[in-house]
Amino acid sequence: MDMPVSFEIRPLSPAGGAEIIGLDLSQTLPQQTIEELRRAWNDHIVLVWRDQEFTEEEQLAFAGRFGKLGQRKVPPEELKERSDGVLQNNPNVMLVTNIMKDGKPAGSFGDGEMWLHIDSGYAEIPYSYTFLYGVKLPSWGGNTRFANTYKAYDALPQEMKDKLAGKKALHIHEYERRARVDISNKDISQSPHWFHPVCITHPESGRKALFVDRLMTRRIEGVPYDESEEILDFLYDHIEQEEFVFEHEWKLGDVVAWDNRCSTHGRTYFPENEERLLRRCTIDGSKLYENA
Ligand SMILES: [Fe+2]
Repeated sequence: MDMPVSFEIRPLSPAGGAEIIGLDLSQTLPQQTIEELRRAWNDHIVLVWRDQEFTEEEQLAFAGRFGKLGQRKVPPEELKERSDGVLQNNPNVMLVTNIMKDGKPAGSFGDGEMWLHIDSGYAEIPYSYTFLYGVKLPSWGGNTRFANTYKAYDALPQEMKDKLAGKKALHIHEYERRARVDISNKDISQSPHWFHPVCITHPESGRKALFVDRLMTRRIEGVPYDESEEILDFLYDHIEQEEFVFEHEWKLGDVVAWDNRCSTHGRTYFPENEERLLRRCTIDGSKLYENA
């Protein structure tokens, strides 16, 4: 178990993503390998393994080497039906799927396109990493697109960096896939939400990243509403430019795991009449600050 294991890192795009070749994730890997993977994450943001075969238990065991496993968030009662899946029995696991079981959703968030987002960005302590395992896939579509928000931050005009310095933004979750929550006349106290710095310093790499996403970030604090809308629209389009995006096309047995603090991710359309199932688990993060 403690013998070194060698593996190859093959970068997949200038925006990020790297395939890790030569590891069987169902095995207990040496601690040194785990540390090497953590370093690879800092460089590539999204890691991809092909042809893996592992059970839910093995997936959790592998992910758990990187920190404390995250719990699936429980939505407020009135939003429950948008997220509750009847086959989601393990609190550490989310089934991202459109599969139905006895007329009810088996999992969560499974249908069609999903706008780019940060997993649990609406929570005080967002997840640090997310792991997805490809269990069932449609014949086409349903790719996962990742935007590198380090690169997006670095490429901002200095004037915009200055404007965003010290600002926080509201992240709010209403379990939508591709719609903005209208907060103009809304009591948000019943919806999960949190204010995070617009620009964070990543707690491990020390680099600055943009921390806003098209799906759930709705308001920059302390800026007039119209100006806030204008800035956020600019940032979403800026972040999602092709030069910052890596797109993963799924194959059965893929494991894709990413750093959730320096990327946003979303899903492309796939046919509604085809089934897709990804098994997700996460790692708890830490509170995020603009300056380390
Ligand atoms: Fe997600």
